[in-house]
Amino acid sequence: MSDAEYVERTFVALKPDAVKRGLVGEITSRFEDAGFKIMGMKMVQATDQLLEQHYAEHVDKPFYDGLAGFMKSGPVVAMVLEGVHAAENLRKIVGDTDASEAHPATIRGRYGHMSMDYADDAGRHYKNLVHASEPGEAEEEIEIWFEESELHEYDHSQDEHAR
Ligand code: RTP
Ligand code: MG
Repeated sequence: MSDAEYVERTFVALKPDAVKRGLVGEITSRFEDAGFKIMGMKMVQATDQLLEQHYAEHVDKPFYDGLAGFMKSGPVVAMVLEGVHAAENLRKIVGDTDASEAHPATIRGRYGHMSMDYADDAGRHYKNLVHASEPGEAEEEIEIWFEESELHEYDHSQDEHAR
């Protein structure tokens, strides 16, 4: 067995609603509690150019303008986390895209309850606190948001105790 088969980096962004609700510490704690290692972390005001790269798969969808407007409505906290099957495991902790479907133990289920149907009918953009890369997309997203020099290698106690 080699670590390289299991240990990977993933990209997570705490969206403007998480920042404005004062949940940066709470949400980041959940990642740390699970044993993920923070490799990089910064506050970013997203631009159209950055969002078009990040949400390339959604640019032509009807909800894109609302999504981009929401993502630019305040700063996001961008981070790179390392762990075993990090992308898959982070998405489990984050929970279903629709908070009304998300398990209450997940971040979206714990800190949200609104449904996408409600947001659509009310003409509001849907806010769900966190973005977490899908498996296979993390390295591309890390490259969009971070310079290599902003990422840090160091020994973390989790390397010994939690993985
Ligand atoms: P994310 O990319 O933000 O981690 O969320 P996700 O994978 O769970 O969901 P995805 O399908 O990639 O959608 C990206 C974000 O777009 C917004 N959205 N709104 N109104 C709608 O129908 C709709 N569909 C998606 C959400 O903010 C979602 O997180
Ligand atoms: Mg997605």
